[in-house]
Amino acid sequence: MKLHIGGKEKKEGWSILNIQKNDDVDYVGDISDLSQFKDNSINEIYASHVFEHIKFIDAKKTLLGINRVLVENGKFYISVPDMDVLCKILIDKKKDPKIKIHALRMIFGGQTDEYDFHYFGYNFELLRGLLKNVGFRNVEKVKTFSLFNDTSDYAPYGEPISLNLIAIK
Ligand SMILES: C[S@@+](CC[C@H](N)C(=O)[O-])C[C@H]1O[C@@H](n2cnc3c(N)ncnc32)[C@H](O)[C@@H]1O
Repeated sequence: MKLHIGGKEKKEGWSILNIQKNDDVDYVGDISDLSQFKDNSINEIYASHVFEHIKFIDAKKTLLGINRVLVENGKFYISVPDMDVLCKILIDKKKDPKIKIHALRMIFGGQTDEYDFHYFGYNFELLRGLLKNVGFRNVEKVKTFSLFNDTSDYAPYGEPISLNLIAIK
């Protein structure tokens, strides 16, 4: 089984878990509580722009849960707003104010519904550290996953604003 957390796009071979129910969602649930899944039961987990919706105090618990349900050598694809990229945009005096407001919405969340708020931000060093800390043995940064058409490939001002990592259990 392959689990797409916070997903909307149906894709063969992937089941969708989302905190918000809709017709394409297979499991309604929260990324920070995967208790509905057994240990070592999922081959791949994909989560694009969901992890920052979790409180930082729950970050370790959330990653431990993902590690628990993945099979040995299972893959975790994680994409988050890249704080290094977004903060550079914010302090660039030459950038248009509209771009800065957009960057701030990428940092704090679009705020279009009750789940569209970000509790925390990550850059490569911080997220890799957290993943290693819960037992992922290999963490690789990639430009694109080439799996779903989503925010992990979003480049609204020319450069990609997402941090895309593949972690191996
Ligand atoms: C910003 S959207 C990202 C959508 C898509 N994955 C992308 O990258 O474009 C966040 C998605 O995660 C879902 N979501 C928010 N908090 C969640 C949580 N705690 N657990 C599971 N899904 C969550 C939302 O319902 C929404 O579909």
